[in-house]
Amino acid sequence: MVKPETDNPISTSTEFMNKFITFEGMDGAGKSTHIAWFAETLRQRGLDVVVTREPGGTLLGEQLREILLNRPMNIGTEALLMFAARLEHIEQVIRPGLRAGKWVISDRFSDASFAYQGGGRGLSWEKLSQLEQWVHPDLQPDLTLFFDVPVDIARQRLANNVSLDRFEQEQADFFERVREGYHKRIQQHPQRYAVIDAAQNLEKVKLQLENIISLV
Ligand code: TYD
Repeated sequence: MVKPETDNPISTSTEFMNKFITFEGMDGAGKSTHIAWFAETLRQRGLDVVVTREPGGTLLGEQLREILLNRPMNIGTEALLMFAARLEHIEQVIRPGLRAGKWVISDRFSDASFAYQGGGRGLSWEKLSQLEQWVHPDLQPDLTLFFDVPVDIARQRLANNVSLDRFEQEQADFFERVREGYHKRIQQHPQRYAVIDAAQNLEKVKLQLENIISLV
């Protein structure tokens, strides 16, 4: 949500009806499959929708993604590069999109840094909060769809992939911590999450999404 440039809390300007929606979940949760459908459903309502992703979403961000997903590095470097890519993404894509009245859907955002760099890698929550405060003190998703799935199911799904990136190659205990990281973050900001039971088959997950999309 970008704060309106008016102090009037009851402003009914439709300029800010558009939303910033993020999709989160651990590798293998299946979120990517559903983003295209979600965006298409909003478009069918006549809405202008931008679909983007992190790390990435800009030219520089996609180059950083290539490095982040493939090169070994210090945990701090990993967190800083995630937030560097995010700053570009916010300034070049997310804010301009929202200001132009578009709906912005991002495949991952800062929750992933708390879950992966915080939960998975063990970087302190406080350092991540400082980065978040620096990079987007006044911006949070209006809605985050969290695709929750037990680690063993997520790993079975990943097993079908031909090539796995640096994160996908991690062991089960890493993903248990990632999942805990997401749950911790959800407990801290429960109002903006919709938790989806992604252990179910595609059709049942889609039914859950249909419910959610009818409310946005
Ligand atoms: P992912 O979104 O899963 O893309 P794909 O489905 O195409 O593989 O890949 C991005 C990876 O980056 C994922 O493993 C999570 C990781 N990641 C972080 O560790 N921290 C972050 O802040 C973000 C945005 C992603």
